[in-house]
Amino acid sequence: MKILGIETSCDETSASVLSNGKILSNIISSQMIHQKYGGVVPELASRAHQKMIIPVVEQALQVANTNLSEIEGLAVTYGPGLIGALMVGLNFTKALAYQLRIPFVGVNHMHAHLYSNFLGDYKPDYPFICLIVSGGHTQLVYVEKPLEHRLLGETLDDAAGEAYDKVAKMLGLGFPGGPKIDKLASEGDPNFVKFPRAYLDKEGFEFSFSGIKTSVLYWLKKRNYLSGSYERKMPEDEMKNLCASFQAAIVEVLISKTFMAAEKFQVKNIAVSGGVSANSELRRQLLKIGQEKNIRVFIPDFEYCTDNGAMVALVGEMLLERKIRSSFDLNAKANLSIQEF
Ligand code: KG4
Ligand code: ZN
Repeated sequence: MKILGIETSCDETSASVLSNGKILSNIISSQMIHQKYGGVVPELASRAHQKMIIPVVEQALQVANTNLSEIEGLAVTYGPGLIGALMVGLNFTKALAYQLRIPFVGVNHMHAHLYSNFLGDYKPDYPFICLIVSGGHTQLVYVEKPLEHRLLGETLDDAAGEAYDKVAKMLGLGFPGGPKIDKLASEGDPNFVKFPRAYLDKEGFEFSFSGIKTSVLYWLKKRNYLSGSYERKMPEDEMKNLCASFQAAIVEVLISKTFMAAEKFQVKNIAVSGGVSANSELRRQLLKIGQEKNIRVFIPDFEYCTDNGAMVALVGEMLLERKIRSSFDLNAKANLSIQEF
């Protein structure tokens, strides 16, 4: 069965052709327009999706050497995400399904991240713990079997990626901030400043990242380093040390709660997904601790960490195989919960 997957929930327009679990193409067009605003501007995101959706789908078909007439099912993200952005992908998919007379299914974006590790050659065994860390989400999920999972905890305020982006903005590093902080941090001293680690309830799986962002803000303000008109230029070494210290605080909490969940539920497989799973320190520590604790750690290739059509097509395939399909009255849902299908 050949499936076309479409993703437009945030600032990536992506389409992918999947044939029986095998990726034939995965085209991602990232919207650069948001960079100058220091964050994703919803209205601009919708317009860019509108412009790119057809060329991206055409390219996905071309690379997959597939004709539209060979596509047997469509999968599209219908939430959570930016409402206008979601509607572009959903309406496009509905029109295509109507024209081709083939089934389509709305996919929960969080499920797409959850199962993205099954796109690789090495797949986790069930049950596993999944840490989803992106610009919009930080969630720990217990995945019992295919399409059966339970949310253990999530962030009560900022997502981990959001904290990276906001701190990068304060430092004048541009958007998205994660990769920039990651790079600077790799040459810095993580013990330079001891930023607070928000464990909240020691036994629980909830996260909070807004406190650390505020701590960085105060630290910068106190030294007149805040990016703005009155700024004092921070020496390069100090910048690297600050980034390393911030990163250490974020990574420590993510790692310890993830392994705590694996221990509590006695699972031997951990999967990580979402944009922040590209973080080099997070990856390094996960793999190292996994080895020490004899737990297999799965992290998708970078292309499948961030938003992409392949992960949507994969969940679409799982749903369509089970004869689950959507009707034309399906609506986009900005705040769709991970428990919903
Ligand atoms: O999954 P994603 O592409 O989009 C959302 O659904 O949010 O994740 C984007 C987020 C951004 O906040 C970005 O700063 C962060 O992932 N990110 C990173 C790294 N690469 C991307 N954060 C830390 N380290 C990285 N290397
Ligand atoms: Zn995402």
